[in-house]
Amino acid sequence: MSTVSLTLQPRPIDPSVDHEIQAIVAGSGTGSTCNTDLAAGPWDFDARPGYGPGASMGDVIPTGAPRQPQLPQEYRDASDEELDARIRAAKQTLGDRVVVLGHFYQREEVVRHADYVGDSFQLANAAKSRPDAEAIVFCGVHFMAETADLLSGADQAVILPNLAAGCSMADMASIDQVEECWETLEDVFGDMDTPDADGLLPVIPVTYMNSSAAIKGFVGRHGGIVCTSSNARTVLEWAFARGRRVLFFPDQHLGRNTAKAMGVPLEQMPMWNPTRPYGGTDEATLRDSRVILWHGFCSVHRRFTVDQIAQARAEHPGVEVIVHPECPMDVVDAADSAGSTDFIRKAIAAATEPTTFAIGTEINLVQRLAAEHPQHEIFCLDPVVCPCSTMYRIHPGYLAWVLEALVAGTVLNRITVPSSVADPARVALERMLAAKPAGAPA
Ligand code: 13P
Ligand code: SF4
Repeated sequence: MSTVSLTLQPRPIDPSVDHEIQAIVAGSGTGSTCNTDLAAGPWDFDARPGYGPGASMGDVIPTGAPRQPQLPQEYRDASDEELDARIRAAKQTLGDRVVVLGHFYQREEVVRHADYVGDSFQLANAAKSRPDAEAIVFCGVHFMAETADLLSGADQAVILPNLAAGCSMADMASIDQVEECWETLEDVFGDMDTPDADGLLPVIPVTYMNSSAAIKGFVGRHGGIVCTSSNARTVLEWAFARGRRVLFFPDQHLGRNTAKAMGVPLEQMPMWNPTRPYGGTDEATLRDSRVILWHGFCSVHRRFTVDQIAQARAEHPGVEVIVHPECPMDVVDAADSAGSTDFIRKAIAAATEPTTFAIGTEINLVQRLAAEHPQHEIFCLDPVVCPCSTMYRIHPGYLAWVLEALVAGTVLNRITVPSSVADPARVALERMLAAKPAGAPA
């Protein structure tokens, strides 16, 4: 592992994180990376347990998580230029039969082939908007592909180019753990399905989009709703209009940051840790709670610290600090603003004067924003190049592989949600898509 540079410097304008990692490893780059194995092809990790190098490398991959079969040799051996040309050719042959979706955190070499690039909410809508396409190739992570399957037509195939592209945060709430938590809450609050005299249920479950379809299905069956980082406040308002309290999973930070901004006191936000008896809390605390936070987090956003913000402010007077709400509360409090990936993108696009921005989110997006806005100085708060391990598993080699298979008439890596789960999960998603901010016209 290379040493950590302590100076926060703007990144070079090349949007490719891959190029930067290769340069650091070759000794020609000035920065540092969290793991030099990132310079290898992701196929080196397909046969190994775990997520591979990157921000989630210390997280535990659940037993039974999908495994990626070995990528054929010709794709592992192909140069970047050859893969680029093969992806373009396959897309051209397929035309409107295929739509490629790319999350903001995907590497530049993949994003350039996407028909839609966006945050998880925008990509969920994009999946709905192309009912004509036979196949939706989702360059993102597993829960996003599941969501696309829920929202797309039954005849459309949703394809995840590398099955190892999970999300370690989503894995932190398994359906068994959530069911167990719910049973405990039933013991405390009794009948969970009958509203009290004020028309409120004891607990409304709210799941972040970053969760499995099984969890979304659970939420749909129990009167709950899905949220994303761009509508978490609207969704919590929806939930508080229907319940005394919220069980929020899997991201404690998004839950805490959103509820705090709505005025919920921290003392009324106990943590539910599924590895501890009774979640590590007690009955009196649960009774007094307004938001029960699940003990989950994102290993990418956990890397951002208040010290990094202090350093950015010291080294770049006037810097504007924007972070993602998956960052810990002290980081969100110390930043100038916090919002979803699309919020960050729009905040930069709206700046009319040359500005210095320090951004607390995944490096691939930060580097692309820096390249798109050369009039501004834009850099990542974390001085170490450390992408999301799982987003980074989608290498152009896998994209070429699934697209060329489609040309040959074969659907590889299809993600399908069984209907017993899909029906209630769709209910929870549709509630989210219909939820309106307080004061908005109905
Ligand atoms: P967005 O909802 O902002 O796209 O974030 C998804 C994600 O995985 C953030 O870590
Ligand atoms: Fe999951 Fe974090 Fe990666 Fe987003 S950035 S996909 S929350 S691990």
